[in-house]
Amino acid sequence: MGAPGAQRESDVVERKPITTTDILSRKQGEKIVSITAYDYSTARLVDGAGIDIILVGDSLGMVVLGYPDTTRVTMDDMVHHTAAVARARPRALVVADLPFLAAGVSPRDTIGNAGRLVREAGAEAVKLEGGVRVREEIRALVDCQIPVMGHVGLTPQSIHAFGGFKVQGKTGEAAEQVLRDAVAVQEAGAFAVVLEGIPSPLGERITGELDIPTIGIGAGPDCDGQILVIHDMLHLFLDFTPKFAKSYADIGGAVRAALTSFREEVRDGRFPAAEHCY
Ligand code: KIV
Repeated sequence: MGAPGAQRESDVVERKPITTTDILSRKQGEKIVSITAYDYSTARLVDGAGIDIILVGDSLGMVVLGYPDTTRVTMDDMVHHTAAVARARPRALVVADLPFLAAGVSPRDTIGNAGRLVREAGAEAVKLEGGVRVREEIRALVDCQIPVMGHVGLTPQSIHAFGGFKVQGKTGEAAEQVLRDAVAVQEAGAFAVVLEGIPSPLGERITGELDIPTIGIGAGPDCDGQILVIHDMLHLFLDFTPKFAKSYADIGGAVRAALTSFREEVRDGRFPAAEHCY
């Protein structure tokens, strides 16, 4: 037995950080589990649960900052929240989103913006939305040694172009386009791709055709992994819950009950009690 507090070999193995190579090797193996987080404390909780990938998603614009969609999120927002997550030093791979127009305009700007997420904030990989349209940018990032996760299908930064949050790939030609996008992301060098908001059979088909892992959100059960927005799975975001999200706990309800008790106890003089006083 080692000295109290000394690290055992099993702890060291257990704490070995998850890398993009580990994620790649999970293709058709153990399912990849990913969740969003936007702050230090949540990242600690997520990591303690053995999650593989923490995504600092630009969904933070909606669930943390209260915007109607993700198009108003800035690079400064992403750097701020990614740095908070990275300070938790999670074992999970930390992936940060490139927000609207931070990618897709020019490879040079994309490299500069992704570089901020890695160098200033501590991200280990970046995610960007789009397929064929952004393949040169993905290639440029990979050439600069920045690992990339793709994101195709219902890409939320395109909602104005799509005319709303609409499931993609429902017709034959639309399905072929989503497949072409996913293949372009793979050929450009991404280590994984998020498939969002597409019919389950298309999720299964793309997963079968790609060599890189697919991580689904509203893309059916056959993807190589699944991702959810943490506010959806904990019922912390009360505005709406998408069909693809499952609430695993009613933390929103628990918070409301706790705050109601606090209000009542302060008003009727039960808090603070003797044990809370100096
Ligand atoms: O921003 C985000 O949280 C995402 C996931 C929903 C995949 O992109």
